[in-house]
Amino acid sequence: MRLKARFAGPLQGSIRPPGDKSISHRALIMGALAEGETRIECLLEGEDVRHTAAAVRLLGAKVDRRDDGIWTVTGANGFSQPSETIDCGNSGTGARLLIGAAASYKLSARFDGDQSLRKRPMNRVIAPLSQMGARFDSPQNRLPLIVHGGALKGITYRSPVSSAQVKSAVLLAGLHAEGETVLIEPERSRDHTERMLAVFGADIDRVEVDGALHPRVRPSKLKGVNIYVPGDPSSAAFPVAAALIVAKSEVRIEDMLVNPLRLGFFETLLEMGANIVYEERHDPIGEPIANLVVKASKLHGATPPAKRAPAMIDEFPILAAVAAFAEGETRITGAAELRVKESDRITLMVEGLRACGVEAEELPDGLVVNGRGPKSVRGGAEIRTLGDHRIAMSFLVLGLGSKEPVTVDDADMIATSFPGFAAFMQNLGADIVGL
Ligand code: S3P
Repeated sequence: MRLKARFAGPLQGSIRPPGDKSISHRALIMGALAEGETRIECLLEGEDVRHTAAAVRLLGAKVDRRDDGIWTVTGANGFSQPSETIDCGNSGTGARLLIGAAASYKLSARFDGDQSLRKRPMNRVIAPLSQMGARFDSPQNRLPLIVHGGALKGITYRSPVSSAQVKSAVLLAGLHAEGETVLIEPERSRDHTERMLAVFGADIDRVEVDGALHPRVRPSKLKGVNIYVPGDPSSAAFPVAAALIVAKSEVRIEDMLVNPLRLGFFETLLEMGANIVYEERHDPIGEPIANLVVKASKLHGATPPAKRAPAMIDEFPILAAVAAFAEGETRITGAAELRVKESDRITLMVEGLRACGVEAEELPDGLVVNGRGPKSVRGGAEIRTLGDHRIAMSFLVLGLGSKEPVTVDDADMIATSFPGFAAFMQNLGADIVGL
């Protein structure tokens, strides 16, 4: 379905974003690896996570959704041979974490995904897992592939990319490998796997290598626990951005995950002059949570440091949209990973911004946006999304602040990460409608 967004006055209200996607995948996977029952409250019920729920069922866990919305996962103390291909849909996180977790069990599992996921690199997990002793049938180093799991040996792996998916695949494999497994990455990526493994009782700590601390896991048995999933900052980024660029808006975001390794976007917004206040921080589940109050703000361009990229990797599309409403240049670098996300997000953002009358330019590892202030964005275009949920949501937000409406050619994939996005934004007063 196509969706159209247009300016309709200020956004107002309090709202809780859907559950964090990263934490939701991990809760299902670790619950399935554990012995006993895991209860998950506020699980993200998006398509990506539903694919992971179906996957862990195929790998031997019992997964149910109770009438009160709580999901229960009864693990079988490890994975067993699946009876059919595991379809990961659009989800790189689901695919890479499940492949890692499956690789240490005596099984042969075929993994597949949709057209977008079939294009994404899998060598980044195949390489370390092969070093640990897993075997793969993967002629193109892409999906579909078959992993032949078995007895693994722990390794110290220096990942060439700062990727929480790679890190998590290796650590999950290390849970059931001989000896210890250490993962070294150039910049720290999100650490939900490390935090949640500790909650499930795994033998995990951090070890110093070359003057920095890196996660280390030893063979462990996980025990079922209760998990509460906080609101997803990567989804909250869209209403936050909308509130900043639509004059006179004031929006309160409740119960949002504020793990520092996920806050690069919010940090950058503060540097751009955004009026964002954090309230009532607490930490009930090994992950920090807070409310946020955001008010429409006069923004200026910024140059976030390249090393901040992993802490805002999913928010670059919406940052580029916000930058169009700021005064001056916003220069994004260190983000070459954007080219291997659900789409090549650098190319699609620049193309869409130009179609909306915004000056933007591609860099090999980022982009430059030349903002001309709040009332400068023309809009009035139909945006090609190539089925990328975050490209679609970014341009719908841009349309809320533009002079002319903005249409996205396909909004169906928004349900992978943010089911009910249009209704959520309408609740705050946004004019976003299906065509
Ligand atoms: C995720 C890691 C990131 C991020 C993705 C979720 C995770 O991917 O883009 O949306 O949950 O581990 P990379 O590991 O490829 O950076």
